Amino acid sequence: MDLRRNTLIQKLEEAAMGGGQARIDSQHKKGKLTARERIQLLLDENTFCEIGAFVTHRSTDFGMEKQQFLGDGVVTGYGKINGRTVYVFSQDFTVFGGSLSETHAEKICKIMDMAQANGAPLIGMNDSGGARIQEGVVSLGGYADIFYRNVQSSGVIPQLSAIMGPCAGGAVYSPALTDFIFMVENTSYMFVTGPNVVKTVTNEDVSSEDLGGASVHGSKSGVAHFTMANEVICIQNLRKLLGYVPQNCEEKAPAIPYTPGNEIREVLKDIVPENPNQPYDIKEVIQGVVDTESFMEVHGSYAENIVVGFARLAGKSIGVVANQPAFLAGVLDVHSSQKAARFVRFCDAFNIPLLVFEDVPGFLPGTDQEWNAIITNGAKLLYAFSEATVPRITVITRKAYGGAYDVMNSKHIGADLNFAWPTAEIAVMGAKGAAEIIFKREIDAAEDRDAAWKEKEKEYSDLFANPYRAAARGFVDEVILPEETRARLIQAFDMLQNKVKNNPKKKHGNIPL
Ligand code: HXC
Repeated sequence: MDLRRNTLIQKLEEAAMGGGQARIDSQHKKGKLTARERIQLLLDENTFCEIGAFVTHRSTDFGMEKQQFLGDGVVTGYGKINGRTVYVFSQDFTVFGGSLSETHAEKICKIMDMAQANGAPLIGMNDSGGARIQEGVVSLGGYADIFYRNVQSSGVIPQLSAIMGPCAGGAVYSPALTDFIFMVENTSYMFVTGPNVVKTVTNEDVSSEDLGGASVHGSKSGVAHFTMANEVICIQNLRKLLGYVPQNCEEKAPAIPYTPGNEIREVLKDIVPENPNQPYDIKEVIQGVVDTESFMEVHGSYAENIVVGFARLAGKSIGVVANQPAFLAGVLDVHSSQKAARFVRFCDAFNIPLLVFEDVPGFLPGTDQEWNAIITNGAKLLYAFSEATVPRITVITRKAYGGAYDVMNSKHIGADLNFAWPTAEIAVMGAKGAAEIIFKREIDAAEDRDAAWKEKEKEYSDLFANPYRAAARGFVDEVILPEETRARLIQAFDMLQNKVKNNPKKKHGNIPL
């Protein structure tokens, strides 16, 4: 018996060493943790249960039968994060560079199937040289098996990806199909074709970091939703994000205990400036309204003219979408529309109520926008809000102009409540532009053109640059004082907590992709 016990212990020790001490040292030297160290940091202490530690590859080409490592380059299993079950896979770069073999893929698929069947989140930590070159097409098949499962699980369980090393070629598409991608600065990169292929095909000289590093994907492409300074911070934030989301689409997100108190927030009184053309930071409004330090911004450096993220209101999880007047005056454009649409759809898929702050002068004009399909992309946001059945509330802080008024969670497209601050201006366009169009003849005929224009601008502004026309129609349910906003929202979301709304039966809609 002792001999058999020792065999098991030895095998477990061997599996724990992955590709061996030298390769572990090399991993550390690059500023990276090992697959197992990452799992230890991710999960609550002593909760990890490994599955498939003794799996080995089946390849016999290129003398591969002589190179066997227990676990075959990926550590898989389940455990707890803040007491809630999650499934995890963590690629082990010390074994064949974390490359994906047939059996490596099978291990990941097994965990994915369990996560979906048991309704718990899946977290993938990626650190891989891509397809196991010695295995050829079976490796490609393994990727496709993973992609298929990513899609089947989409909207059923939350799927998070952390990129903690290379992620290249087709391997990028599994993270891309998940809900959120985290990247680590300087040690991770993602691209479909690497710098060498880029050089051959386009003659561009570019480093891995400049082509597909964390900062590029966090700010230029928007592929990464979060970029983190190092792996430890990245893992802490994976844990944090899961705190805002439910285990699966049938459940509600966990709430944290909350003791009601004085909900008036004087700080909100003076954030919107007197001059409607002066910017302010909408994040000050968000932070003033939601529970202290509960706002977790998503896509913080990408399409900054719209702000999206998770927060808590009276302890309950909400998704926040807000125009940002401090960046491009808060206009809607191609990227901000896509960014917000995707976030809205995530929240709706996972029963997270939506709170929208609106201060939008309209859609960004120009050939760049039109040629890059602002029509199709703006429609994404319109579509996402219109199909969302979760509780939805809008607060118009200032401008709600033109088509953007309709798009930003208006009552007409199914918002449950629409509040406005006294500073709200709900109109087809700004007073200056409106006056120029509808009073063109009078302005041109006037002796003092500028004075006439100003007068007409004031006339239009007095009529429309306020929330009361919209309130008279019921498009705005109530005009509220800024400092009362938090209290009103707590009551309103409480009132909406049992909302039941079903869209017409269909196979699936056809969102303008
Ligand atoms: C097998 C691989 C491997 C791979 C790396 N290794 N990539 N083994 N298949 N794809 C092995 C190396 O032989 C080495 O083994 C160890 O992993 C570490 O690799 P190094 O090159 O020493 O590390 P580093 O210098 O850090 O470079 C990492 C790397 C580089 C940038 C990832 O290894 C690399 O370029 N690998 C090939 C990448 C690639 O072309 N993959 C296929 C992409 S196409 P030893 O024994 O020395 O430790 C693809 C298609 C997917 O993935 C399609 C899905 C639809």
